[in-house]
Amino acid sequence: MRTPSVRGQVEPFHVMEVIKAATARAASHGDVILLCAGQPSTPAPAPVLAAAASAIGSSVLGYTEAVGIRPLRAAIATHYASDYGLDVDADEVVVTTGSSGAFLALFLAAFDAGDTVAMARPGYPAYRNTLQAMGCRVLELDCGPQSRYQPTVAMLEALPEPPAGLVVASPANPTGTILDPDELAAVARWCAANDCLLVSDEIYHGISYGRECASAWQTSRESVVVGSFSKYFSMTGWRLGWMLLPSWLVRPVELLLGNLAICAPAVAQAAAVAAFTPQARAELDSHVQRYAANRAILLDRLPELGVTTFAPPDGAFYAYCDIGHLTSDSRAWCAEVLAATGVALTPGVDFDTARGSQFMRLSFAGSTADVGAAVDRLAAYICSTPCG
Ligand SMILES: Cc1ncc(COP(=O)(O)O)c(C=O)c1O
Repeated sequence: MRTPSVRGQVEPFHVMEVIKAATARAASHGDVILLCAGQPSTPAPAPVLAAAASAIGSSVLGYTEAVGIRPLRAAIATHYASDYGLDVDADEVVVTTGSSGAFLALFLAAFDAGDTVAMARPGYPAYRNTLQAMGCRVLELDCGPQSRYQPTVAMLEALPEPPAGLVVASPANPTGTILDPDELAAVARWCAANDCLLVSDEIYHGISYGRECASAWQTSRESVVVGSFSKYFSMTGWRLGWMLLPSWLVRPVELLLGNLAICAPAVAQAAAVAAFTPQARAELDSHVQRYAANRAILLDRLPELGVTTFAPPDGAFYAYCDIGHLTSDSRAWCAEVLAATGVALTPGVDFDTARGSQFMRLSFAGSTADVGAAVDRLAAYICSTPCG
């Protein structure tokens, strides 16, 4: 009998399981507060919605070029000029089906089976699972509070040999921590000097609370920058992302994109051109103000849950919390919390194969009222349980 390939036996993305359980709970109890999903609770900005309506009414919306429509690639290139002072050519930009589609094509184009690719632990699980499915060796760099959960040059220097690639995310998921510009620059220089492809996941840029977010391309155009319309731009389900690629990767990525998905969704591409307009940016910046208010509530009230150790949430919309005083099985604990309170949280095991069983991630991308109500429920639950 045929069995699934070894490649197909990837780890689950546990948050998807939590969302499934929360959906069932919502149907039976109607009281769910979702703090598990890493997505804005708002629609795309008004100019994007108008552009989408206009595209649907006036265009065939057939396949586009594999690398995306030129007006969108040009708009993304201009965004790097205005926000980062970088001179980017539209030909260096490829548009993808979410940043997830970018990682898939990039990993295939840049790495062979057996290559070693390093990433932070805790880190975004899909890098690890996708690379492993492709037969790459994933080297998890143990990143703790000393380095604000980010890889350092010292960690890379300590490796027996430079890896073929390094994936960094700043702001990161699940921690929200940011690599400061000089730290990112040092990592980028080390990678360039050691023939290691730096993949800089910058999809949470635009959502930060005081610390500067630098782009890897400000130091090294030999690196790959990954962006997305999912987070700051509030267009998660539109499935649109992009990459800035060094010239040697543009053609292989184009060939892979054409074969893997043909192109990113045409309606999303047409609409996203309007995401960079001042009107859209003002709307999006108001969401960031709400995230900042939600973050302030959490920082103020996490001690009520007994949580005193958490990664500094410099950016994105996550608080990654040590709940070792409450459980040594974060997956079971999150399931119990959902059953008792209706609050859906993500267990740390998604992000950290070593210590995730004593961590959980809270997303504060929702409404301020929901964040406050969730903390009320969690505090009441923890006070009522024996270890709380
Ligand atoms: C760090 C990071 N990278 C990539 C992604 C994938 O996002 P998308 O495919 O929606 O662009 C996510 C989603 O949560 C993420 O947190």
